[in-house]
Amino acid sequence: MTTRATPLIDNDLGNRMIKVDHAGEHGAICIYSGQLFMARVFARDKVDELKEFLSHERRHRAVFQAELRRRGYRRCRSYWLCGLGGLVLGLITGLCGRKAIVATTVAVESVVLRHLAHQLHTLRDIDPLAVAAIATIVEEEQHHHDHSAAQIERDDPWFRALAPVVTAWTEAVIWMGMRS
Ligand SMILES: [Fe+2]
Ligand SMILES: [Fe+2]
Repeated sequence: MTTRATPLIDNDLGNRMIKVDHAGEHGAICIYSGQLFMARVFARDKVDELKEFLSHERRHRAVFQAELRRRGYRRCRSYWLCGLGGLVLGLITGLCGRKAIVATTVAVESVVLRHLAHQLHTLRDIDPLAVAAIATIVEEEQHHHDHSAAQIERDDPWFRALAPVVTAWTEAVIWMGMRS
């Protein structure tokens, strides 16, 4: 009897990635909401930009919410944790002013962009609808990153202090979300 090796395709991978992205977008909404709340007093020149970013993140969450619903999937267990962590991060960095706001955006969006590129690559042959949903947000995430990166030096103390913490937190949330 001959046995043929079947390729290991994880049919659930796209579902889990959409679920994590949905929670991540909720986290982003909470970060920008917290920053916007504080920026009205402590960084008024950032208010319009934060409103613009926030409107993008709301659209991103809606994209993934619709995709999750279509798949009959519930939201990620880390959804509320993402929201709470995002809100705390947003309020604290908003309180610290424009440099902390910009440093946070660069750090978060760097992880997001790396993560999205990985997802698009991994899912390209196995889940075209997930790829289509993810592809609709990349340009705006790139804009958030590039627009903010142009306003801060990589060796700025705010960036050096916040980037490792924000990166570790974001990576940890993604890791947990993919396994829950
Ligand atoms: Fe987003
Ligand atoms: Fe973003």
